[in-house]
Amino acid sequence: MAVLPILEYPDKRLREPARPVEAVTPEIQRLVDDMAETMYAAPGVGLAANQVGVLLRIFVIDTAGEDDPSDLKVFINPEITSREGEMVWQEGCLSFPGVTESVERAERVHVRALDRDGKPFELDAEGLLSVAVQHENEHLDGKLMIDKLGPVKKRLVQRKMQKRAEGRTSSVDG
Ligand code: NI
Repeated sequence: MAVLPILEYPDKRLREPARPVEAVTPEIQRLVDDMAETMYAAPGVGLAANQVGVLLRIFVIDTAGEDDPSDLKVFINPEITSREGEMVWQEGCLSFPGVTESVERAERVHVRALDRDGKPFELDAEGLLSVAVQHENEHLDGKLMIDKLGPVKKRLVQRKMQKRAEGRTSSVDG
């Protein structure tokens, strides 16, 4: 297993849509394992393949609390089949280090996907898991959390990330 480099905004590859996985091969399983290790090392609660520069429809999520045993969930070719309710959640993203913003999401989602063994499963998600599924699923379409912000906030985050990319110290921290 290996910790992979995580792409940061405004890397253009984060805007590319990912294509479906044709077969869950040992290579795909190795990618999944590397993605999980990368997510835990960050640390983060979710990571999409786009974020490590692989344009395949895969994400991993672990919403277990710090003191709880790990609860890795692997989603290959996921599909959100229903959404219910509304809520606002403070979200971050491993491709936007240091950024936390309020984002509007569905309260509950139903999702279908293949697991690490290529076996289909379905899941009802609410709370943090629901947010993570929606957030990671958008990565697969090249969408990012800043797309859900108003223009002023979006511009602030873009400036902050641009400065970071240029290697300068940002003064908007805090
Ligand atoms: Ni993200």
